[in-house]
Amino acid sequence: MKILSVVGARPNFVKIAPLAKTFSERGFNHVLVHTGQHYDYEMSKVFFSDLDLPEPDRHLGVGSGTHAVQTGKIMAAMEKALLEEAPDITLVVGDVNSTLAAAIASAKLGLPVAHVEAGYRSFDMRMPEEINRVVVDRISHLLFSPTENAVLNLMNEGVKRESIHFVGNIMIEALLTNREKAQKSNILEKIGVKKKRYCVATVHRPHNVESKKNMQIILDAFSQAPLPVVFPVHPRTREAIARYNLDTAGANVYMIKPLGYLDFVRLLSQAACVITDSGGIQEEALVLQVPCVTVRETTERVETIKAGANRLCALDIEAILTCLKNVLENNKEFEIPLFWDEGVSKRIADVLEREEIAIPGYSMI
Ligand code: UD1
Repeated sequence: MKILSVVGARPNFVKIAPLAKTFSERGFNHVLVHTGQHYDYEMSKVFFSDLDLPEPDRHLGVGSGTHAVQTGKIMAAMEKALLEEAPDITLVVGDVNSTLAAAIASAKLGLPVAHVEAGYRSFDMRMPEEINRVVVDRISHLLFSPTENAVLNLMNEGVKRESIHFVGNIMIEALLTNREKAQKSNILEKIGVKKKRYCVATVHRPHNVESKKNMQIILDAFSQAPLPVVFPVHPRTREAIARYNLDTAGANVYMIKPLGYLDFVRLLSQAACVITDSGGIQEEALVLQVPCVTVRETTERVETIKAGANRLCALDIEAILTCLKNVLENNKEFEIPLFWDEGVSKRIADVLEREEIAIPGYSMI
């Protein structure tokens, strides 16, 4: 079976790593395409070395742009790649623009699409990722869900039960298989912080960073946090802080470049808590038993809230400081959801082997 899988943005690289390894062990003909949505060393290349990912077979070199421009460019380049590669199935992961563009290009060529991380919903259509999730799931043939709740979301939308496969959380497989290696990182010493005596922070959602007022609230909250805050700054966020000429002088805040995967896992695993607006970090924090404050109105990662590992927090200095105080007092162990383990890529490969014959053969290629 020939599988073409697509990566573009940082969280995609993490999710594809365990799959690429298992596909190679199973002898699948696996073609890896990098759209180029993320292109900086810190946002892309370092993940390939940290995660032992093979070099992409194709690089589309699309880069940044508005949503329509970025998605459109990826669709056009993907269509060409798909016609030339003629895979049996296209595999996409997560919810970024590369995921959406590749799924549309593939489905329109009559090539079946497999979506890994299907069924997550924040029910907030103001998030570009929510639009991506809904559209990709609607046009996918095989839907690999990370949680039982994601399966229910899909069934509520009328997806046929036989298309949905509850396989578990692929990002957690990556975390568990790399956890030991990550402990060798000396990132804490490099930054100069001590185990469990600091918070990690990441913010990059347009709602939080593409507004001078909101960005200032976040920076002020970090400056007033009860522990030092280590803040690896996403390029979008760095650009916004510079554009608004914001005051980032808080001595309490270590603003550093985005980190590679192993350094970030080490930093997160030793933190007292994490403040984020990312999706995946909410889940990684749960598994690493690090309490999380999510500066968003909604989350598609509802299991993290149910487990008591995560709190949604309003964009307000007092609210963020109160949430931080509350989570820092936590001493509970969080229960890890079913199938958030090291067997996810194998479950996916089992389904792909089983379903090979059953996938409708209506390809236009
Ligand atoms: C994307 C995903 C988001 C994911 C995040 C992880 C979408 C809609 N969003 O958001 O879900 O959580 O990646 O990082 O796909 N830039 C660089 N260098 C890079 C990449 C980006 O400088 O290597 C800058 C560019 O100025 C670009 C901006 O960051 O315009 C935003 O990049 P983009 O990929 O469009 O969205 P993200 O905010 O990274």
